Order: sequence, then C-alpha cells, then structure tokens
Amino acid sequence: MDGRDLVRSVKAVGSTGAAQGWRTVRAAWRRRRADAAGLPPRGAERARVPGPVLDVEPGPGGGLVRFTRSELRITVAVNGAVFWGWDGAGPEPSYALADRSPRPDPRAVLEPDKDGAWRVVAERVTVVISRNGAVEVRTPGGVTLRRDLPPRWWEPVGGGRARWMQRSEVAADARFFGLGGRASGPRLRDGTYRLWNTDPGLAFGPGDDPLYITMPVQMVVADAATHLVFHDSTWDGSVTLREGEEGAGSGHDRAGTSELRMDGGPLRCWVMVGTPARVLHAWASLTGAAALPPAWALGHHHARWGFGSEQEVRRIVAGYQDRGLPLDAVHLDIDHFDAHQVFTVDRERFPKLPVVAEELRRDGIRLVSIVDPAVKAEAGNAVYDSGSEVDAFVRDSAGKLVRGVVWPGEAVYPDFTRARVRQWWGEFYEERLAQGFAGFWHDMNEPVSFTAFGENTLPRSARHDLEGRGGDHREAHNVYALGMARAGYEGLRELTPRGRPFIFSRSGWAGMQRYGGTWSGDVATDWPGLRASLSLVVGLGLCGVPYSGPDVGGFDGSPSPELYLRWFQLGAYLPLFRTHASLRAGRREPWEFGDDVLEHARVALVERRRLLPYFVTLAHLARRTGAPYVRPVWWGVPEDRALRDCEDTFLLGDCLLVAPVLDPGTDRRAVQLPRGRWYDTVTEEAYEGPAQVLLDAPMSRIPVLARAGAVVPVRGDDGSLELEVWAPAGGRTGGGLVVRDTGDSWEEPEIERYVTRWEGQRVVVERDGENGPSEPSCPVRVRGLRTL
Ligand code: GLC
Repeated sequence: MDGRDLVRSVKAVGSTGAAQGWRTVRAAWRRRRADAAGLPPRGAERARVPGPVLDVEPGPGGGLVRFTRSELRITVAVNGAVFWGWDGAGPEPSYALADRSPRPDPRAVLEPDKDGAWRVVAERVTVVISRNGAVEVRTPGGVTLRRDLPPRWWEPVGGGRARWMQRSEVAADARFFGLGGRASGPRLRDGTYRLWNTDPGLAFGPGDDPLYITMPVQMVVADAATHLVFHDSTWDGSVTLREGEEGAGSGHDRAGTSELRMDGGPLRCWVMVGTPARVLHAWASLTGAAALPPAWALGHHHARWGFGSEQEVRRIVAGYQDRGLPLDAVHLDIDHFDAHQVFTVDRERFPKLPVVAEELRRDGIRLVSIVDPAVKAEAGNAVYDSGSEVDAFVRDSAGKLVRGVVWPGEAVYPDFTRARVRQWWGEFYEERLAQGFAGFWHDMNEPVSFTAFGENTLPRSARHDLEGRGGDHREAHNVYALGMARAGYEGLRELTPRGRPFIFSRSGWAGMQRYGGTWSGDVATDWPGLRASLSLVVGLGLCGVPYSGPDVGGFDGSPSPELYLRWFQLGAYLPLFRTHASLRAGRREPWEFGDDVLEHARVALVERRRLLPYFVTLAHLARRTGAPYVRPVWWGVPEDRALRDCEDTFLLGDCLLVAPVLDPGTDRRAVQLPRGRWYDTVTEEAYEGPAQVLLDAPMSRIPVLARAGAVVPVRGDDGSLELEVWAPAGGRTGGGLVVRDTGDSWEEPEIERYVTRWEGQRVVVERDGENGPSEPSCPVRVRGLRTL
C-alpha cells in the first residue's frame, strides 16, 4: 500500500465509518482476485518490425504500403490532417472522432521517392515512407518535422493482442506540449508521462503525474512549423520525452525524441501541420467543436464541499450580495445528497431546493450539482434498482457485478461504453433539473474506487461493452469519463432541447470538449499548486479542451491571504473562474481574508464581469475555430524561442496578455512580450515587444496588457455592450471580433468584425461588413492615447 492509498482509504473511513474501511480492503482484495482470474499471463512474446517494403497500392488520398510483416495505410484528409495506421488499422472506430473520419483529399497521391521509399505530397505536408517502415513528416519546403522509426510490436507467441512501441525524433529546437492535463508543464520536460487517467488521491502539485485527464496528443513546436500528433489508442501507455539540443559551434544537433509505448490498441495516428491556430483548427474539425457554455458559466462560481444546509447556501449568497460582489453560480457538492447517493437530495438539510434555486435564479445566480458515476449498491436505491433492471453496471469476467467503494460506500459502476446505459443515465438529469440545477459537475469518473492497494480504480479485467465490440477495463478506462460526459450531454439535450447544457468533468479524453469542459481537480493549496493550475489550463487548451480552471485557493488547505488573492486574480482571467475547497479545508469566501483582500478580490470580480462579453466572444471563437481562450504567449509567433519557454504568462484571446503572480512576496515581475505594442491596461503605459519588461504587480492587481489595435467587447456600467479599443501603433491598423450572446440558446449569433486605424490625430473604429464599413453598433471608448 503506498502512502497516498493509505490516506485515501483513511479519508474514506473517516467520512463514513469503520465499516467502510473494511469494505475498502475487501474491494481491493476482490479487485486483485478478479484480475488474477480474468487476465491470464501473456506467456512468451515475439517481437516484430515491419521488415522491407514489398509493394504499394495507391488509393484515395494516399494508399497502402505493404511490408513483409505489416502494412501501412496512409490517407491525407480534406481538412489537411494525415492519417496512418499499421497492421490494417483504419481511423474508425474511434472515441476521439466527432463523426465519421473526414474524406480523403483526392489531390494527394502515393508516388515513388528516392532509395525505394514512397511519399505522399499534400498541400501543407509531405510524408515519406522509407523502405523499412520509417515515416517522415516534412514541411512543403522539405524540412523534417518528425521522423517515426519503424514501429515494434510484441505479440504472445500463441497470438493475441500486441503491445507496441513507436519511437520518434523531432527537431533539436522543438518543445513538447499537451498529453492532456499535466501539472509540470505546459512545456513538457524530459521524463516519462503515463497515459492512464488517475485520481492522485491527495491534492496534487507539479511533481504529480499522471492526473485525471491524459491524452495521447502531443503538440510539438519548432522553428520550421508546429505539428500535433494524436495516437488513437485508449489503452494504458506511456510517453518518454527528451528535448533535443542544438550543437554549439561545430557540434552536432541532437534530435528531440518521443518514445510511445502502448499496452494495446491499434497503432494509428493523425498528424496536423501548420501554425498553432491551423493545427488546432484541424484538430477541432476532427474531434468536434467545443460545447458552448451558457453565458452565466463564464462568470464567477462559488463551490464548497460541505455547505451542509440550505441556510448556509443562502448565507454565502447573501455574503456576496450584501457586499456587492458579483456571483453567477453556486455549486453543491456530495454533502447535499442523501447518504452521499447521486441523484438524491438530503431533504432534512435541503428541504426546498427548487425554491432556493428559483430565488437564486431571480438574482441571476445558477445552481450547479456534482454528479458522481458510482451508484450505491443497495436494494431500494432507485438508481441501483433501475440500473440493475437494464443491466447497466460493469461486470467482471465471471459475470459478477464489480463492486468498488466510493463516497456512498459499496458501489457499482455504470458502463458508459454502452449506448443503452448512456441513455438510461442521461434520463436521471431530469431529477436534477426538477431540483432547479442548471449545470453539472462530473466527478470521480476516472473512475475511482478507494481500494487500499495498488490503483484506485476498477479491476483491469472488468468487462465493458465498448460499443458492442466487447473488451476490458484496460481499453475502456481512459474513455470512461468521456462516455459519462456524452451520457449527460445527450440526456440534457433531450430534456432541455432549447438550452445549452453546462457540464464540466474531472476526467476525460480526446474529444471531451464536445460535451463540456473540465477543472483542475484537487490542486494543492500552496504556491507550486497555483503554478500547476495554470499549467493544466494551458496544456488542455492545446489538446482542444478550451474551457477549464482551477479551484481558486487550492483544494485541501488554508491559503494565506496573499496566496488566496493571487489565485483569485489568476482565476479571474481563466475560462472557469471557481472558488472551491475540501470539507476540512479553510474557507474560500473573499471576505474571509481581511479587508484588503476583499477589496482587491472585488476589483478582480468586477473586472471579470466587465470582460464577460469578451469571454463570450472567446467561447464562440473556440467553438468555431478550435483556438482556446487561454493561449501560450508563443501562439502567434511559435518561432520565438524565448516565448516557447515562457510558462508564467498567457494570452487571453488575441487582445490581452495576462501575467499572474505565481510567487510570494512579489510586487514587480518580469513579463515577456511578443512583438508589437502592448499597453498596461491600468496605467495605459505602452511597451514595445519583443522584449522583457519589468512591471508593477502590487497586491491590488496582476499585470494585464492589451495589444495595440485590439477591440475588446466589454460590459458598460449600465450593463450594455461597449467596445474598448486600444489605439493602434502609429501608422498601423488593428481590429477585433465581437459575438453578442447573453444567454444559452442555440441560435448562432453573427460575428461582428471591427477594424481600427488612425485618421490624422483620431482613432477611427468601423464595423466591417459585406456592404462596406459602417458605424459600430455600440459605444466605443478609445484607450492608450496617453503615450502620444
Ligand atoms: C473530489 C473532487 C472534489 C470534491 C470532492 C467531494 O475530491 O475532486 O472537487 O469536492 O471529491 O465530492
């Protein structure tokens, strides 16, 4: 038993008594026994490589290359992405793809290259397949971005599932990003990153890996181009990364390397090449547009494990209202359930929840409910009984129900890899809607069981439907939460066809953005935890999940007033802005940290509300283009190497650059600026990038800069839309996009385009339309004129 498991089981025992402790130990024992019976040893294995090329068969968008011991299928798709799969693997079936795989691009053809190699030439990329099965991705100019060595498989001698390894080389200057939500990034340094969604048990910091969301998605940024590579296998695996090194003087370059090992699943991948924006656009067209949060979900959320009663919820809300602090959502954790059981309400402590919800809604505040997947295994529990009727729960290889232990005690797990189960589960959201909830917080869906030994999840031998194909937990584990998100999302679409569902989920996989967002999970209450929470948001954005944010203040402890405030100031500029804490942690209300913190937190809250139209615009752009709201500073200039290594600053859309304070005792900080002019949004002082500048970061604020020429939609004092325009640099022009949307309907609002330029001594702002320029549709305020 490692320390974390012990603490987790002690936590479980502490929360529901000694009986649960024994159940935990029993569940662990059962899990091990199930695996011993359900997963016979593999026995002797044989290694295999593709061997020499035999012949080729051209087909639409590419073709088939046959080797003596394998074959490679390669297709360039119309969205510019390249697919290749070994051993006959095609793009489907896939949990990541939103639809059928995109059509092949008929212009791409397989043709002979030098030395017995073959190549496919497409508009943005050339792929060369060597005669022994190495695959090279090149820019149209011929620069190599990635070289996959011939893969290697290990197969049981008697046949069966192969494990495999794919080693790749990238440019010496390349930097790795992605792999889901990683605490030590966003730049992924040398090390091994596991691909297995994991609840770390205790609150995590930068040294903890893996966490709740892992994905075989790498974004690689190099001078020559950016590329994203996705290995579409849901199995357990690991990626070992090593950054390259450029030879000084006469020395040779050492390539960067990535070594991917998978326990199973097809060896197939998608590669997208271009600028970061282009690459993520292609990725979103493959895996699906990000769900659009309702406008209220872009405001401030307050959560706590342990409100304990309706009165306390009212007291907290009144605390915000009496102090004039904006609040948009309150989240109820498991303590509002009856005996911790999902889709129930403790009627003693929350007797009139729909009434509370209605009152809050009148004040513009929504209620959000936690939803845990595990179902208390007890006859008489309606969810358990109805699930048993439709055979909804995961069974072991002997056909018995798999039992774990979670908050309600002994529990069983819906099999979300089965369509009928997803539908059954989705119907329960009706009960939540009737209680007045407007949003859903999916938790514990790695999935977790507090087993005291080894991994805190289901046995690997547990059986899953996997859309009728059948398989075990080794294949289903990483997509368990994705299936739960789909179930909730599709259920809500049926129940409330006119509203946009709001779901955010702790665990997930490639494509999860189709159903909603995520949050950073149980991040540790300390300064490294603050840094880790930014790493997760940036990294997930680069994997196509644009909506996320941390528990402001950290999950587990009592933050110092300074740490709380710095976290709050960062959170105010992240898509999900939520305060939350554990049952036994300190409070998170802004007034609990003294008058100074309250006043500074008020500034952050008011500014967040003022920027709401900008956040709404970013949400629409993320949906339409795949670009995350929060972007690394190298987003527009990936060739700027200094920016590639900058991890403490980010861009919020195109217009703003945010430099949070991530260290104690700071009142100034160095800020790395991309090229162009940038204005400090408070002092209006102008700075010219690329440069590193030292900016004031007093307790009252973190540095936020606006790009010269930016048009930022903001909420005016009377609540209506205004455009805040930052003067373009002399002789330059600027512009911006605005999407007006204040609700949660499915109507697609039009994108308003604005341009700005100098006309003599005046900055002119015009709306750009099909019939030429017109007056802006709302008041305009030009800023940044002070420096003239
Ligand atoms: C998990 C969640 C946390 C929640 C707690 C109780 O630790 O990550 O957010 O408060 O469970 O439900």
